[in-house]
Amino acid sequence: MATQAKPRLDPETAYEVISPESYAHWDPLLDTFDRLREEAPVAWVEDPEGRHPPFWLVTRYDDVMRISKDNATFLNNPQTVVFSLTEGIEFAKNLTGGSPHMVASLVTFDAPIHMKYRKLTQEWFMPKNLRQIEDEVRELAHKTVDRLLEAGPEADFCKLVSQPYPLHVVMQILGVPEEDEPRMLMLTQQMFGGQDEDLNQSGMKDLPPEAITQLVAGAVKDFEAYFAKLTAEKRANPTDDVASTIANATVDGEPLNDRDMMGYYIIVAAAGHDTTSASTAGAMLALAQDPEQWARVREDRSLLPGIVEEAIRWTSPVQHFMRTAAEDTEVGGQEIAKGDWLMINYVAANHDPAQFDNPRKFDASRSPNRHLAFGAGAHQCLGLHLARLEMRILFEALLDRIETVELAGEPARSKSTFVGGLKTLPLRFTPA
Ligand code: HEM
Repeated sequence: MATQAKPRLDPETAYEVISPESYAHWDPLLDTFDRLREEAPVAWVEDPEGRHPPFWLVTRYDDVMRISKDNATFLNNPQTVVFSLTEGIEFAKNLTGGSPHMVASLVTFDAPIHMKYRKLTQEWFMPKNLRQIEDEVRELAHKTVDRLLEAGPEADFCKLVSQPYPLHVVMQILGVPEEDEPRMLMLTQQMFGGQDEDLNQSGMKDLPPEAITQLVAGAVKDFEAYFAKLTAEKRANPTDDVASTIANATVDGEPLNDRDMMGYYIIVAAAGHDTTSASTAGAMLALAQDPEQWARVREDRSLLPGIVEEAIRWTSPVQHFMRTAAEDTEVGGQEIAKGDWLMINYVAANHDPAQFDNPRKFDASRSPNRHLAFGAGAHQCLGLHLARLEMRILFEALLDRIETVELAGEPARSKSTFVGGLKTLPLRFTPA
C-alpha cells in the first residue's frame, strides 16, 4: 500500500501511555486520552527507553469496537496479547520453545481452535447455569461482609472485601480448597509479575533476571503439578464445577493436553479475580462519594444492576488488550501494515465522549450503556455474567447490612498498564 506518514507520539506522551505509574493517576491519564482521541486517535508509540516493541495505540470507541469484532483481520497471534517488555517476550519464547505466550489459553488462540476451546465452558458461564452457584456465592459474600463489620467502623474495603471475595469465588468454581488460595495467589503473581509493588508479594521486582526466570519456570511447574492432581480428582469424581467441565472435556475427540488444560485453569483463575476486584472497589467508591445514592439503592434494589454496569464501565479494570494485524489494513483512516501490533485501549474507549455523555461522571442511569470493558467479538469476556452476578450478590449483602458509608481517607490506584484499579479504599460505615 502507499505509505502514509506515521503519527508518532512525542516521547513524553509515549512514556505516559506505557508507564504503569501513569495508570495510578487517573484524571491526568484520561486528559491524555481525550487529547489523543482528538489529535491522533490511532497513534504510533515508540518506547523512549526502547524496552518494549512499538505499537499502534487506538483510543476511539468506534475503532476499538471495530478491531474487537473483526477477528479475522486483528488476531491474538503471533504477538503477545498483553503489552510486554521485549525481554519478557524473549523469556517466554525460551521457556515455551518459541511461543511468546507463557500460557496457552483462550486469549492466545485464534479461529478455528479458539471457538472449539471456548465452547467447552461457554454453557457453564451462562446465567442459566450460574443460578446453581448463587447460594454458594451469597454465602461467600456474607462471610466477607462479616469480616468487614468485625473490623469496623473504619476499614480498607480493598483489603477486606474487594480483593479476597472474587478470589474466593473463582477458587470455589475451580474446586481449589480455601487453604490453597494463598499459594494460588502467589503463583499467579509470580507468573504474571504484577507491576505494583504493594500488590505483588512475590518479591520479584528486587531479583536479577536469571532469578526471575527460575521463579517463573518454577511457578509454571508448580501449577502443572497442582492442576494435574486436581484433574485426576475431577476425572475420578466429577462434580458440577467448572474444573470438572475442563478436566473431562474433549476437543476433536481427544482430552486436552497438559499445557492446554493448565492454560484453561489459569485463565479462569487469573482473569476472574483482579478484574472483578477492581470493578467492585470502583462501585463502592462511587457509592461512598454519594451517600444519597447509597440510601436510594438501599430502598430500591432495582437500581443495583445499573450501578454494577456503570461501575464496570467507569473503572474499566482490563485497561487494554493487544492485537496483531493479519494483513495490510486501515483503522480510522490510518494505514496499518500486516504484522503491526495494536493496543485496543478500553479505558480510552469507555471515556469517549462521542459514545458516552460526560464520561467521567458515574451515572447509574446511563441507557444504553454499551461499554467495552468486557471487550467485544469472539474473545468477549467469558466471565461477564459471573462478574455481574458476583457484584450484585455482594452489594445486596452490603446494602442489607450497612446503613451508611463514607470515605475515611484517600483511595489509591495501582500502578499497572494491564489490569488496574483501586488498591486501597478507606471507608467509615455504620452497620444496619
Ligand atoms: C476475557 C474483562 C471478569 C474470564 C476478557 C476480556 C476482557 C475482560 C476485556 C478480553 C475481551 C476481548 O479480547 O475482546 C473482564 C472484566 C471483568 C472480568 C472487566 C470483571 C468486571 C471475568 C471473570 C472471569 C473471566 C469473573 C471468569 C471467572 C475471562 C476469560 C476470557 C476473558 C476466560 C478469555 C475469553 C476469550 O478469549 O475467549 N475479560 N473480565 N473474566 N475473561 Fe474476563
